[in-house]
Amino acid sequence: MDPKAPLKAQIPAPRVRRTRSHYLAVLALVFATNFVVFSSFFQPQQLTALPLHADTTLARCRALDVKPAPAPSFNLRNESDRFQPGTRAVLVKNATIWTGRVDGLEILKGDIFMDGGIVVRTGVVEESLLASREHDVVDARGAWVTPGIIDVHSHLGVGSAPALEGANDGNSLKGLVLPWLRALDALNTHDDGFALSVAGGVTTTLILPGSADAMGGQGFVIKLRPTKERSSSALLLEPPFGLNGSDVDYNVPPRWRHMKCENPAGMYHGTRMDTVWSVRKAYDDARKIKIVQDQYCAKAQAGQWSGLGEFPSDLALEALVDVLRGKVKVQTHCYEAVDIDAFVRMSNEFQFPVATFHHAHESYLVPEVLKRAYGKPPASAIFASFARYKRESYRHSEFAPRILADNGLKVIMKSDHSAIVSRYLMHEAQMAHYRGLSANLALASVTSTPAEVVGLDHRIGFVKPGYDADLVLWDSHPLALGATPVQVFIDGIPQLSNAHVSKKPASQQHAPKTPNFDQERMAAIKYEGLPPLEAATRTAGAVLFRNAPGNVLVDGGAVVWTGPDAALAPAAAAGAHTHTPALVSAGSLMGLQEIAMEESTTDGGVFDPLSMEFPTILGEHILMRAVDGLQFGTRDALLAYRDGVASAITAPAGHGVFQGLSVSFSLGARHKLEKGAVLQDVAAVHISISPQFASSVSTQIATLRRLLLGSPKTEKEFGFKQAGDGSIPLVINVNSADIIASLLVLKREVEAQRGVTLKMTLVGGAEAHLLAPELAAANVGVILMPSRSFPYTWEHRRILAGPPLTAQGPAAWLAAHNVTVGLGPQGINGDASMSTWAVRNLRFDMAWVALDSGGSISKEAALAMVSSNVEELLGVRSAGANAEFAVTRGGDLFSLDAKVIAMVSSKRGVVDLF
Ligand SMILES: *[C@@H]1O[C@H](CO)[C@@H](O)[C@H](O)[C@H]1NC(C)=O
Ligand SMILES: *[C@@H]1O[C@H](CO)[C@@H](O)[C@H](O)[C@H]1NC(C)=O
Ligand SMILES: *[C@@H]1O[C@H](CO)[C@@H](O)[C@H](O)[C@H]1NC(C)=O
Ligand SMILES: *[C@@H]1O[C@H](CO)[C@@H](O)[C@H](O)[C@H]1NC(C)=O
Repeated sequence: MDPKAPLKAQIPAPRVRRTRSHYLAVLALVFATNFVVFSSFFQPQQLTALPLHADTTLARCRALDVKPAPAPSFNLRNESDRFQPGTRAVLVKNATIWTGRVDGLEILKGDIFMDGGIVVRTGVVEESLLASREHDVVDARGAWVTPGIIDVHSHLGVGSAPALEGANDGNSLKGLVLPWLRALDALNTHDDGFALSVAGGVTTTLILPGSADAMGGQGFVIKLRPTKERSSSALLLEPPFGLNGSDVDYNVPPRWRHMKCENPAGMYHGTRMDTVWSVRKAYDDARKIKIVQDQYCAKAQAGQWSGLGEFPSDLALEALVDVLRGKVKVQTHCYEAVDIDAFVRMSNEFQFPVATFHHAHESYLVPEVLKRAYGKPPASAIFASFARYKRESYRHSEFAPRILADNGLKVIMKSDHSAIVSRYLMHEAQMAHYRGLSANLALASVTSTPAEVVGLDHRIGFVKPGYDADLVLWDSHPLALGATPVQVFIDGIPQLSNAHVSKKPASQQHAPKTPNFDQERMAAIKYEGLPPLEAATRTAGAVLFRNAPGNVLVDGGAVVWTGPDAALAPAAAAGAHTHTPALVSAGSLMGLQEIAMEESTTDGGVFDPLSMEFPTILGEHILMRAVDGLQFGTRDALLAYRDGVASAITAPAGHGVFQGLSVSFSLGARHKLEKGAVLQDVAAVHISISPQFASSVSTQIATLRRLLLGSPKTEKEFGFKQAGDGSIPLVINVNSADIIASLLVLKREVEAQRGVTLKMTLVGGAEAHLLAPELAAANVGVILMPSRSFPYTWEHRRILAGPPLTAQGPAAWLAAHNVTVGLGPQGINGDASMSTWAVRNLRFDMAWVALDSGGSISKEAALAMVSSNVEELLGVRSAGANAEFAVTRGGDLFSLDAKVIAMVSSKRGVVDLF
């Protein structure tokens, strides 16, 4: 079907597509209308005037502008349409219930009774009701319960995990405007992500096509529990009618549909002008069909059937016509002010409301534009801190959730799974809360607000009698760092059979008292997303930090005095502070890029001699030095610095096996020539081994063997000679346990032949836990990256999921086996080029590892994983724990109550006060 075919021909005589199913449908109607003929027996005149399809057509005409809504009796139901027969009733006793009601401010202490797949009672459940129904009892012991999490932007099932060529169904590359495509047709129920999302408390998700096109197709709301039928269709929540084909029951109110529209600057769209035109053209085509339909129905309803023909419609554009009829939630991927403005103009031109701007990195800068969208202002579905990966997200602000809320606009935190793994969507709400969004709105941003925006707030997003029994029972306050579900109910069915959760400190049972970021937030607006990030004050002079376990006097960036009585100090300052050794980041491309997807802002990738022609001018030097390409003052570096990360160890970006020689440098330095800017110009040799490269894994390992065994030719190669004689570490990006095993064998072989001890470190390590004792015996450490694993690819598929699915996560497991562990930033798909934004969150990653471990990893041990262990594993000479430290107010670096107010560096001889 050519969407661009002129539709003029349809006015006034609509083109009628006669397909086989059309004739079948007509046949069916012939049988149906026999009855009409019979019952109309005594009115022969009217009978002759009516075509056979008159009844259906009139029903269709009546239904044209009926808006989606639940049936009037919906809330009187005592059983869900999704009820699975045999599901036992459950009483959750003694819970602290965040209901989502009263703007998210209502908190009930009491019980919840679920039966028939719905919540029957909250608060006090009468004994007679309990006595009348057989039920199971879950004692919450005062723990928090929230509605199930709703993720409005996920590619679960359409971009499945582990990613395989055969299941890459997120996008079509067959056109620009593809409103007829349906994500449902590609929804793979075997995606490993389903169970992981549920383990994070996600119960309902809007599955959207990807963003390759200007209009990517229709999205569908699903529930994530496994079904008896095991089909994609069985996952659907209130599917729009008509999924079986063109069979629609016009007598039932329609249900919401979802249309994914795109960022005007997508990969395959041409320019913004091209994209906007392609979408306007499609809406104009749809508008013409709508007019013809309305004219047709006006005649039909007036009984003027003569010559009217069949109802005008077009299967390719019917969903867009439904957009114009207000039956579709338009879900638009739209980043920048320019794009939001264009889309809002389009919504007014064609008079359709926009449900949500997804990503919406700049919506906080243009609240008035959102407010003048047709109908009501769209919600913004955003990331807490994932940003600056492309130009459109460069002006992202971590304060956007609060700014949008201050403007009365709806805020939703979303995953774009697996960009952010949806299992950790509540963490996005935690981060939004940390940076200023109120607790009630932060919780609503992943529950009741998305429920409203997908048109399902009559049944999900709240804990309320009559609502779906989708609940999460948490081990701590859901906005406390590392909050983990103890149980997740979907349609009243418990989803976790043996939850592993450790006891959390009592402080985790309430929402954090988050710091004040008013000034930073105002600066974000004032500077249109690019506020200055350098320290307000940099001093080489004396600064006294009072009350930091004892008081600390710093001079020239070095501690010169500590003592219990601040009055005795040689200088004076105010406030209560805590200091924590500064963090060290590794594994990302920090310092080699500003905007990952803008080549001109990066160092670029190095040549890979195994997959491309290697320039002879480079001689045998295949290992480039990252120090030569370093950039200082990137926004990701400064943001990380402001969150306690003093330095980064970065290797060049590779296109294959070889990256090169890493550098250790200071994130707070302004340029390379400043004192202490480069801490160590060569740290380690970095390579990657992966089946995703052009050469085979066995070829890659054979090459490595040859280099390490030191043939006369490779002796000349500076880095490999040193790695081969054990004087600097050989750092290998690797995830598969099988490849790790081969590397351990190779290590033994080289050591036996050369009589040396190799220093080998692994980065990535998704499957490293499978070889924990062997790694410990070989003295090979692992920098887990990301620190919370996800089965992104085949090489990552055997993850150790961590609580509540396994007792320990990978960091705790490896540490328990005496493997030296470091933590890399969370990033995207464990991809070094997409993780610099996440370096600022290392303080929360370390805290999470400690919280998850149930006490087996102390705070000190967790801190070492993002400081001294990383240095040790990557061959960086440490200057001692107190050489650089972060000063915080409100708590220590682990806490969501705390804010970094200064960084102190004796290496650089300065104190930076923020
Ligand atoms: C709901 O009510 C109907 C009719 O009143 C009854 O037949 C059915 O058993 C009830 N279901 C439940 C789960 O109570
Ligand atoms: C609820 O649980 C808390 C924490 O275990 C306990 O102190 C309290 O007594 C319980 N309340 C009821 C009504 O059982
Ligand atoms: C599709 O057809 C089946 C069989 O008639 C029916 O049970 C189902 O409800 C239909 N689904 C939709 C979404 O119309
Ligand atoms: C780890 O090291 C400690 C201290 O050396 C030792 O007691 C313990 O048995 C080791 N654990 C394992 C699993 O090897």
